[in-house]
Amino acid sequence: MDIKQTLILVKPDGVQRGLIGEIITRYERKGLKLIGLKLLLLPHAKAEELYAIHKGRPYYDRLIEFMTESPIVAIAVEGENAIQLVRLINGATDPLKSAPGSIRGDFSNHITYNLVHASDCLENAKHELGILFSPEELC
Ligand code: CMP
Repeated sequence: MDIKQTLILVKPDGVQRGLIGEIITRYERKGLKLIGLKLLLLPHAKAEELYAIHKGRPYYDRLIEFMTESPIVAIAVEGENAIQLVRLINGATDPLKSAPGSIRGDFSNHITYNLVHASDCLENAKHELGILFSPEELC
């Protein structure tokens, strides 16, 4: 067993398009356990911390603006191989590479406005969970 915890964000476009339920259902149906859940307006400083490795990229300013302009949903999940599983369910960032059946493959056609974010490795999952959730907020 390789039980891990990871962070998922439903981005502002997912919230605005009324896809919160659709998106959460996909993780639940795959057997991942929700251990944290909240709707919030992402503070600018937290968005910068979350996306620090993207600083300097041409899309960075637009990404920060997008992520902070309206509410997101933060989700913490736990399960076997959770980090890789969530990324598989989300699909590739590039809309030309996100497979049908994945969240992005089914609902997104844009490389920045791509509905969901998920941690990409164990180290980042721990770091990103710490940005969005206090230990008391995780069940
Ligand atoms: P996410 O999985 O949240 O991680 C970084 C985000 O930056 C990514 O989803 C996209 O929203 C955005 N992004 C990554 N690469 C590009 C790109 N080449 N052009 C525009 N936006 C990008």
